[in-house]
Amino acid sequence: MSHLLLVHGFPLDSRMWRAQVEGLAGVRTVLAPDLAGHGADRSAPATSLDGMARHLAGVLDAAGIDAVDLGGLSMGGYVVFAFLRLFPERVRSLALIDTRPGADTEAGRAGRDALAAAIREHGAAAARDAMLPKMFAGPASEAVRAETERMMLEQPPGTLVADVLAMRDRPDSTPDLAGIAVPTLVVVGAGDVITPPAEAEAMVAAIPGARLELIPGAGHLAPVEQPDAVNAALRRFLS
Ligand code: MLT
Repeated sequence: MSHLLLVHGFPLDSRMWRAQVEGLAGVRTVLAPDLAGHGADRSAPATSLDGMARHLAGVLDAAGIDAVDLGGLSMGGYVVFAFLRLFPERVRSLALIDTRPGADTEAGRAGRDALAAAIREHGAAAARDAMLPKMFAGPASEAVRAETERMMLEQPPGTLVADVLAMRDRPDSTPDLAGIAVPTLVVVGAGDVITPPAEAEAMVAAIPGARLELIPGAGHLAPVEQPDAVNAALRRFLS
């Protein structure tokens, strides 16, 4: 069976994909690695999106895998755009989930600096405070929220600062969209306030042949909040 590589968001790790690893096992061998410095990977974090993409290429090299279906959520989507620029021949299809192609605005960059400073001072709790209230649209259970919070608090602060600065300095991928030549699915939670549906719709319009799946009852972490609906969308796309 061919492989689906899923790239996690910030300030999370590969555990956010648990429902996809289980639920999509019938259609792909699902690989959900931790980015360097996240989760169980305690190596030094990458300091750029390109560095994260190179880490993933190394994961594929180590497993002897040439090309994959590639999906990413939010920061993971930014990594997907970097991977596509660096290793286009290794990408069979794209799933862009609750993410956006654009770079940060000036205000966004200032916000990154403030968040990096807060994490240096208060640790992972500062990332939790900034992100957790914006992750879910509502119906996520207490258990899911608690598990997500725990995942956030377990990331090393140095890794989270590196993520924030890498996102601050990421390039604009919008000019790449018209040239995407692989089948592309865009998935977005209907209640995503971080990368809202309007941005997903603009991305779909810019990528030749791209399809949109809007997930009702989900915010930014749609694969965690509505795993069955997201898995069904991915299954339709991959089959
Ligand atoms: C993420 O969910 O990975 C981050 O919210 C992305 C971002 O802050 O731009």
